[in-house]
Amino acid sequence: MTHPNLRMEKTLLFLKPDGVMRGLIGEIISRIEKKCLIISAIKLVWLTREKAKEFYLVHKDKTFFEALIEHVTSGPILAMVVQGPNAVNVVRRLVGETNPFEALPGTIRGDFGLDLTKNVVHASDSTENAEKEIAFFFQPQEILEYQKPTEAKFAF
Ligand code: CMP
Repeated sequence: MTHPNLRMEKTLLFLKPDGVMRGLIGEIISRIEKKCLIISAIKLVWLTREKAKEFYLVHKDKTFFEALIEHVTSGPILAMVVQGPNAVNVVRRLVGETNPFEALPGTIRGDFGLDLTKNVVHASDSTENAEKEIAFFFQPQEILEYQKPTEAKFAF
């Protein structure tokens, strides 16, 4: 059965250094997998200050900018391309509100975060930004197109 409001999308999700250092890689990948989303690309990256500033350029005048750059360059991050129906919005909802104090229990930030800068993960907030953020981390040939057998059940 087809659904007019669903479209196959890719989004960028990364575990920030706090998520990696706390050993949450398996937990977060597990949530992505259980939601039947597909990981199309994945790698550990240690951002330089220059690259981190480029990634978060939109926030350069914010008071929290320096703390954010300091944190995301403090250790490796785990970047992934996540694919699925309406993936941008679906992943945002799995991640929860930016502020972990407001994020609902059941969401990644609601369950694991207690700090606005060290808020465990980053996820793209729109399809336009997803495209840019995916290109920031991955070459086209690193992004693999495949289907899991379980997907047949969720055809739309
Ligand atoms: P992220 O989704 O990576 O996007 C920008 C980041 O800035 C955000 O998560 C937070 O970690 C961080 N940040 C720190 N303070 C604030 C704030 N007051 N409002 C929004 N984002 C903030």
